[in-house]
Amino acid sequence: MTAVTFIHPNRRSDRLETGDGESAMQAATRHGLDGILAECGGNAMCATCHVYVDDDWLARLPAMGDQEDALLDGTACDRLPSSYLSCQIRMTPELDGLVLRLPERQV
Ligand code: FES
Repeated sequence: MTAVTFIHPNRRSDRLETGDGESAMQAATRHGLDGILAECGGNAMCATCHVYVDDDWLARLPAMGDQEDALLDGTACDRLPSSYLSCQIRMTPELDGLVLRLPERQV
């Protein structure tokens, strides 16, 4: 079992258990987390699952795909170097304890 922590703009944090092979977005929606809309259901088409990856974890994520990179140019809140789509972050044992910060809004 792995876990991911989402930190809300008001600094509240939610630590969620994630299933095997589940994306961070899927864990968030399964737990009814506020702040992740995931309108396209994880198909890398909506950018409403935008997150900022905590600096300590950035180097541990796999390289971003071209589609994700392009979509991140259309996020509702500013794109930062730490921006990722949470539907593209597949939880693995190596990512246990991952920390993601939520933007102010997704649309
Ligand atoms: S859920 Fe739509 S891009 Fe991630």
